[in-house]
Amino acid sequence: MTLMKDKKILLGVSGGIGAFKACELLRLFVKAGCTVRVIMTKSAAEFVTPLSFQSLGAESVSVDMFGEKRDTLEHVSWADWGDILVIAPATANIIGKMAGGIADDALSTQFLAFYGPVLAAPAMNVKMFNNPTVQRNIRYLKSIGVNFAGPETGHLASLITAAGRMTEPPGIFAAARQRLIGKNTLAGKKVVVTAGPTKEPLDPVRYLSNHSSGKMGYALADAAAGFGAEVTLISGPTDLTPPPSVTFAPVQSAVDMQKALKRYCSKSDILFMAAAVADYRPANYHKQKIKRSDESMKLELKQNPDLLKSLGDSRPKIVVGFALETENLESRAVEKLRDKKMDIIAANDPTKEGVGFGSDFNQVTLLFKGGKRLKLEKMDKFDLAVRIIDETSILLENHGSKRKK
Ligand code: CTP
Repeated sequence: MTLMKDKKILLGVSGGIGAFKACELLRLFVKAGCTVRVIMTKSAAEFVTPLSFQSLGAESVSVDMFGEKRDTLEHVSWADWGDILVIAPATANIIGKMAGGIADDALSTQFLAFYGPVLAAPAMNVKMFNNPTVQRNIRYLKSIGVNFAGPETGHLASLITAAGRMTEPPGIFAAARQRLIGKNTLAGKKVVVTAGPTKEPLDPVRYLSNHSSGKMGYALADAAAGFGAEVTLISGPTDLTPPPSVTFAPVQSAVDMQKALKRYCSKSDILFMAAAVADYRPANYHKQKIKRSDESMKLELKQNPDLLKSLGDSRPKIVVGFALETENLESRAVEKLRDKKMDIIAANDPTKEGVGFGSDFNQVTLLFKGGKRLKLEKMDKFDLAVRIIDETSILLENHGSKRKK
């Protein structure tokens, strides 16, 4: 069972040029197994038609409070139905109505009647966005628990580059998914995640690296932010977009990652060490590109530091590592768990079908310091991250209570 399957999404669309991107957002929700009902303002219907949303898989679309409807109490019954209300784009106008308690159309009425999590993705002209009234409205809405995704700085409809552009649909989807975890067990906790490969330079154009895509680490950072943690994602080079609400610290080599860990881990609560750190680097870095010769070539490598073993004083309360093994999976993972003083190690075999490098799925067995063993099913990496964080949160809670005794 995945987190997003059968979730009920109320997608509010107000009238801005970003409205056409709401179609893509709807697709992402539908693809993830959610049921979506769309509530459009009349001005949104000037940009996209209700039929567009219906054709893309919306269960129903509501535009008019007083038009022909199946359900006369639609404005309140939909509010009871939804697991989350996502408003994308959120114009200055709808934000103003939300902050002022005005309910004069289908969307603003739903907002007042809805008591679940709300996520707004503002989109407007930069002058409007910077207007003190709009800023005050956003501040007020945040103070009552409304979540915001963006806006981003980028090309606006007015062809200038400034703040006001709506976050792209995958970013809004990710922010909604974080809210749908529905747990706040890491609120106030500091979590550090490492992800991706490291790149060990040989000369200005060549390097040694590995196939890690970074997906597992990014999923952990994404989910940890959803659990309410203050998250820093230290990432080697990947093609991925950092998840919403995390501090992003990009690095290249294992030595860079070691420095970043020293910087971010002190006083942190949990470290998820999902990076595939290169164990060796070229012994000599050549300042100029190495030229081809007629001779064969020997490459001398030297050992990189073991990042977990060298954490020292900056070691967080709970450390979760990963073991990628192609043989003797569990026994080797247990050795690493002990040797690197981890609290949990997630052991996985990348040669298993459908869970290899770059896959969106993973299958791991969690091995705990105290000897507990938990074999998990193959699942989506985000769902697995949620499962791993559930287990880690329990350890952190026990860690706190043990210390109090
Ligand atoms: N790790 C680390 N520093 C390194 C190498 C790995 O901190 N130089 C971490 C990884 O991020 C992972 C755990 O140690 O959480 C196990 O990584 P793995 O590469 O499986 O272990 P190694 O000790 O490098 O053993 P080997 O590659 O020989 O299997």
